[in-house]
Amino acid sequence: MTDATLIIGPVLRFAGDPLVTPWEDAVWIDTEGAVLVQGDRIGAVGTSAALIKAHPKASQVRYGQDHLICPGFVDAHVHYPQTAIIASWGKRLIDWLNTYTFPEEMRLADPAYAGAIAARYLDLTLAHGTTTVASYCTIHPHSVDALFEEAHARNQRIVAGKTCMDRNAPDGLCDAAQSAYDDSKALIDRWHGTGRATYAITPRFTPTSSPEQLAALGALWAERPDCLMQTHLSEQTDEIAWVRALHPEARDYLDTYEAHGLLSARGIYGHAIHLEPREIDRLAETGAALVHCPTSNTFIGSGLFDTAGLAARGIRLGLATDTGGGSSFSMLRTMAAAYEIGQLRGTPLHAAQLMWLATAGSAHSLHLGDKIGTLAEGFEADICVLNLASTPAIAQRVAQASDLWEAAFATLMMGDDRAVADVWVAGVLQPAARSSAI
Ligand code: GUN
Ligand code: ZN
Repeated sequence: MTDATLIIGPVLRFAGDPLVTPWEDAVWIDTEGAVLVQGDRIGAVGTSAALIKAHPKASQVRYGQDHLICPGFVDAHVHYPQTAIIASWGKRLIDWLNTYTFPEEMRLADPAYAGAIAARYLDLTLAHGTTTVASYCTIHPHSVDALFEEAHARNQRIVAGKTCMDRNAPDGLCDAAQSAYDDSKALIDRWHGTGRATYAITPRFTPTSSPEQLAALGALWAERPDCLMQTHLSEQTDEIAWVRALHPEARDYLDTYEAHGLLSARGIYGHAIHLEPREIDRLAETGAALVHCPTSNTFIGSGLFDTAGLAARGIRLGLATDTGGGSSFSMLRTMAAAYEIGQLRGTPLHAAQLMWLATAGSAHSLHLGDKIGTLAEGFEADICVLNLASTPAIAQRVAQASDLWEAAFATLMMGDDRAVADVWVAGVLQPAARSSAI
């Protein structure tokens, strides 16, 4: 193979889910490791000595012991249209939506603006080491085309869908039950399974979809069960009270989805903070995924997600920035917030668990766990190399670390895009990278 490259240095490896088995058995770092990239795939992962011997003609990219070769980050819940209003001050969820989010999402009625924001968003997130996102778009079908097109141009694996809303939103942001069905179906036909694209049917959340729209999207999902379905669940207490008022017949928030065919294993529910016991039981029974959005949950004041408790119930968990309700594009900042929320709940996560959530865990939540999120033979070659000494403040802490986990933890807590040394997408080194290969 002439196009083979060996990426040599400390490599993050997974053998299982460190949220359900002891992390020491599930995750390790090969300090003298290497990843063989052949075309757009990973050909092998092992010790550098063995792989150099087996592939003497492969070109070599070497990193020092102050680096970590990881899977590209997978951000399992984002709103790319909110890129330009990230970090907007002082509101709680419903006011935040009405004051900042909906006016900005209206601007994406202009296809040129939607295209520019999609490109800006993917450039920003790639610079932060994120190679796959699952994004909500706006109600405008061209906003979905824009993101899929930009991802396709970068050869990125991507999950996205048209946000559907037919009530409790400005007129300019409302579709209808039938048009949401028709537009979503046309977008599925155009994009789902093309290249690296997955379509997610996307009712925004119960308050902005009539029962007729929820049912129409449930029917569409029944026709196309190979698609994902993403929505929001139990994010803030006042939102939950609103859902109760809108749906007095429902047993709980999740029931408003379940009653309309919007609950199954390929469902991805963002936030899920204030869950009732029945909801947890049903989520566990169905195999649905929950996505933890820690910077958003603190920024909008939503609450403390129970990572340890929900993982103990065997529920599939992902991690996400929730841009722009979240306050950062960085999965490093997101891991830091997840750690802090764990501390506030008395269940701090280990660096190995945080890294799993930001990569393989998120990939599994999107049913892509056999393709991305893990450095292993046959996986797609989406790779992020972290510099574990990217700032003087981090470097001086690392100088005192007794092992690589302690060193990595400093970057998880204090790092940002400056810690992203290099990024490969489908085997191609990205030009914007701040390479510190040696
Ligand atoms: N609930 C419904 N829409 C949104 C959104 O755009 N962001 C967040 N954080 N929660 C939501
Ligand atoms: Zn969201």
